Amino acid sequence: MLPVEEITSSLRRVSLRTDMLIQLFPNRRRGFDVVAEAKGRCLIAVSNEEDEPMNETLETMWKRRSVRKYKTDAIPEEHLSLILEAARRAPTGANRQSWRMIVVRDPDVQRKTAEACSNQMWMADAPVILCLVTLPDERRVSGTIVLDHAILAATSLGYGTCWIGSFDADKVKEVLGIPNDHGIVCLTPLGLAAEQPDPRPRKPPAELFMADHFGSELDYSL
Ligand SMILES: Cc1cc2nc3c(=O)[nH]c(=O)nc-3n(C[C@H](O)[C@H](O)[C@H](O)COP(=O)(O)O)c2cc1C
Repeated sequence: MLPVEEITSSLRRVSLRTDMLIQLFPNRRRGFDVVAEAKGRCLIAVSNEEDEPMNETLETMWKRRSVRKYKTDAIPEEHLSLILEAARRAPTGANRQSWRMIVVRDPDVQRKTAEACSNQMWMADAPVILCLVTLPDERRVSGTIVLDHAILAATSLGYGTCWIGSFDADKVKEVLGIPNDHGIVCLTPLGLAAEQPDPRPRKPPAELFMADHFGSELDYSL
């Protein structure tokens, strides 16, 4: 059996009609991108465009992809403000809000930031790079939620993002002037996508979810 990764990269995308999809996966609702393994074969299906629209929040979550090619077009201020506001509204432990976000727009600083992120230079093509910083002694989990809010807001407004966790913290701190005792959670480029990546495969639900105790199967259906 070919691994899912290999099939997705060689076939790119296989579209099945929704009724066929439902026959194959009776527990799934319409509108889902499906990447699944069944009976020793890999199946990839993208539901057709006539599907009923889902709840908009879920649709945004389903739509998000890691984008690694960007157009250089600027982001209108009102969109950027909404993305930042979504971050500001994120929950944090005891509402401490011990995070700060650096909005990097200077091309030279962007280039140096991308270098500090394992030379992922494509990041610097985006008009904005966001860097999520935590204040001293704050756990990084709160910052993660903040950045996720920004990323989902960006997706809902039509922008691409990509979590960037591969970076040299000392170098990023030096480039962005972040004090040494602060933490860096993650970064993301933010801009219009110049590619439309296919959905990346996910493990089957049975491997991920458990009922009541670790290891016990959850009766799960969508
Ligand atoms: C914490 C974290 C760190 C990541 N770091 C990087 C990174 O440094 N570079 C990169 O290209 N992608 C990075 N990614 C993106 C993952 O590769 C991507 O989310 C995963 O392959 C699933 O693809 P999708 O986001 O399109 O669903 C990171 C994702 C997460 C959540």
